[in-house]
Formats: sequence, structure tokens, C-alpha cells
Amino acid sequence: MPIGSYNTIIEPFRIHSTQRIPFPNAEERRIAMEKAGWNLFGLRGEDVIIDLLTDSGTGAMSARQWAGMLDGDESYAGSRSFFRLADVIRDITGLPEVIPTHQGRAAERILFSAVGKSGQVIPNNTHFDTTRANVEYTGAEALDFVIPEGRQPQLIHPFKGNMDIERLEAKVRELGRDRVPLIMVTVTNNSGGGQPVSMANIKAVRAVCDRYDIPLFLDACRFAENSWFIKLREPGYEDKSPLEIAREMFSYADGCTMSAKKDGMVNIGGFLAMKDPALAMECRNLLILTEGFPTYGGLAGYDMEAMATGLMEALDPNYLQYRIRSTAYLADKAVAAGVPIVQPPGGHAVYLDAAQLLPHIPARQLPAQALAVALYLEGGVRGVEIGSLMFGRDLPDGGFQPAAMELVRLAIPRRTYTQSHVDFVGEVITRVAAKAHDLRGFEVVEQAPWLRHFTAKLAPL
Ligand code: F0G
Repeated sequence: MPIGSYNTIIEPFRIHSTQRIPFPNAEERRIAMEKAGWNLFGLRGEDVIIDLLTDSGTGAMSARQWAGMLDGDESYAGSRSFFRLADVIRDITGLPEVIPTHQGRAAERILFSAVGKSGQVIPNNTHFDTTRANVEYTGAEALDFVIPEGRQPQLIHPFKGNMDIERLEAKVRELGRDRVPLIMVTVTNNSGGGQPVSMANIKAVRAVCDRYDIPLFLDACRFAENSWFIKLREPGYEDKSPLEIAREMFSYADGCTMSAKKDGMVNIGGFLAMKDPALAMECRNLLILTEGFPTYGGLAGYDMEAMATGLMEALDPNYLQYRIRSTAYLADKAVAAGVPIVQPPGGHAVYLDAAQLLPHIPARQLPAQALAVALYLEGGVRGVEIGSLMFGRDLPDGGFQPAAMELVRLAIPRRTYTQSHVDFVGEVITRVAAKAHDLRGFEVVEQAPWLRHFTAKLAPL
């Protein structure tokens, strides 16, 4: 019997080395939370039992990646490890120009420094925070064109990350190609709940790009997970391998930015890849300024070895089946506990809907933060608030503009936690949900002028 025909999706790996999980008790967790100013970013890793803050750079590497690291070539110029990495990236993406960077945002900064300026507009399905910030830093404007279904948490749709082609094209027509240096598609759409984009939609964006002669770039962080969703949900792709699907996705693109901390399966690394040799030369010159020589770009040779191996491991069907199924498994636990989530669950994370669970806490009192803190106090589980602490704004007239949604993201590190860890998280969610009506909100007592959620200090109400 094929392994995929069983109901139990087993982890497609044996554990080869382990790391101790600390078990701070309830009193120790309360003290840690108080010391952190009730901000989960202020906790130490050692204070946390199950860390679901992010799936970025927090996964486990395989024995083959570690073995490759011993064989990394640390030549400053012309490292063998760079050429191996570039070959793997070309094999998957078909993009000839490969520029290594230390992580995704470095690729973004370089790309937008080369193409962005005041008066220009960069459309995307939904810009991730760092992408938006790097676009805006150049003076250009970052606009989101995700389909309306992508903004409704409870609505089920197979490809909620899709671009709204009509609205995109209307904007491009209005601005003209000189004001749109490139169009981006983020796969999967992290800020919209880790939702996938269909191949048909990528092709339709490509057609808009062709009509106006504008390049298409993918924000490819979770390209392998997106490929798997296409295989599962889009007619015509059920018999194709994730690698074949990924190759087709990239065949419509002129370039990509990548944080290999996601589907590169590494703890640090990224790249920029493209077709245009003139743009690549400009990007390499910027790379040398702050990241390093073009054959290492701020990485060690061993990092590039680990990335070359990890990019292919992320496309292994057994891995992807386990990955997407285990995220859905956590989603099932949350739903069984009576906690509403963004539906359907995304590839890398489950998003709990705090606005629905805690209707007695107004947005200004940060319901999603109340839920995130409760999960930590109850069982040492760390998620991240994606609500009014992150996106809410105090208005000059004393009013408050809340975020569009009040969510807690539980992101799943790759190949790191077992099914019993997830069962434990499910129990923690169940216990918190049972006392939801007792939870209280928070007020902000200290905050930075931007990106306040990282460093704000709070007080319970
Ligand atoms: N694009 C997307 C879609 C991302 O999710 C991230 C990072 C980046 C770009 C930036 O990459 O961190 O390597 O510089 N997302 C992480 C997260 C931080 O937790 O979702 P980076």
C-alpha cells in the first residue's frame, strides 16, 4: 500500500539528534511574561515550550544538509558551493542570473533599490511587511490586489492568495508601464493566511505583464508549499511532481526574491534570481556594497551547500504531504476546541480568529494579544499577534483605527515538532478556549514610532 493511503501521515524522517525543551512552570511563565512587558517578542527562547512564533529559519536541517556543510568551499571568490547552489536554483527556476543574499529582505532591498523610485507603484497579491517596507523606502508605493475572497477569514476558496486580475489590470492601464517597474506575486500569500496562488492565476498575471511589457517577479519563499497546493487542488496537475509544478510556476516569471529560511530549509540564506543580465549587474554592484562578493553574498560557503540541498528536499512529495497535512492537523485541533480559524488552513501556519473568540474585548484592548499571551501562560506556546498591536493606529483626535482582523498566527517550523507536540498545542488551545470569557485585554504603555509590535511594553487591564 502506498504510504499516502494511510490516515496517519507519519513524519518522513527519523530523529537523528535532539534538542532539550525547557519546561518552565506556570509561575515561571508568568514571571517571564511580566519581565517581557507582556510582549511575546520579549521572551527568551528558554522561556518557551513550543515555539510557533515563525516558520522562518527555525526548522531542522537534514543529515545530508549537515554533511554538505562540512564540505562547504569557503573561497572568497568562485566558491564551488556557490556554483552548486546556482545550478540547483537554475534547475528549479530556469532563471540564469543567481545572486545569493543572507536572507529574503536583503534580496528585496537590492531589487527595489535598483528598480524603485518615487512616483512608481509595485503591485502584489499582498506584500509581506519587509517587502512593503523595502518598496516604500525607495519612495515607491506598494499596492495589494488579492481577490476579495482572500480577505474573508471564514470563506473557503482553494486559492485565496490569487491576484484580482481585473483590478490589477485597471491600475496598470491607469498608470502606464513607466510607473510600474515590476509586478510581484507572493507564493504562498503569507500576510493573507499562507494561502496559495493557482497556476491559472499566475498565467493570467503573466498575460497582463505581456500586454504592458512589465516584468513579473515571484516572492518565492514558500514556492514548494504552493506547488503542493496546486497538485492537490488544481485540475490537470494531480499527476505532476512538485518539481515539475515549481518549474512551470517559475517559467512565467522574469525573476524572484527568496528567503531560503522557509522552503530553502535552512536557518539562514536567501537569493535573488532573474533573466535580465543588465539588471543583474546593477544588483550585483549593490550586493558588493553591503552583502559581499557575488559568489557568497553574505553567506558562508557551508550555508550555500545547505541551501542547495534544502531547496530540493523541500520538493520531496513525502515531505510536502506531511508538511501540509500536519498544518491541517493543528487546524483541526483548533476547530475541535471551538476556536474559529482562517479557512482553509494555509501551508505554514494556522491563524486563530481572536475577534470571534473574544467578542468582549474591543480591538483597542488588543484581543489577539490577549489570546497569544493566554496560550503562553497556559502551556508555554508562543504564537504571534497579527492584529491591532501590529497594525492598529492611534489617531490624532484620540481615536483608534483597528486592524482589519484580530489573528494569532501559529507558524510551524519545518521538520521540528512531532505529532504529540501538536497534540499538546491542541490541548493548550482547548483549555484557553474554555476560559475565553475570563480573558482580559491589554493597553500599550510604551511603544516605538514604527513597527511597535516588536518592542512595545504592555500592561494587562
Ligand atoms: N516574503 C515573505 C512572504 C515572508 O514571509 C518573509 C519572511 C520575507 C519575504 C522576508 O524574508 O525574513 O528572510 O528577510 N517572513 C517571516 C515570517 C519573517 O515570520 O513570516 P526574511
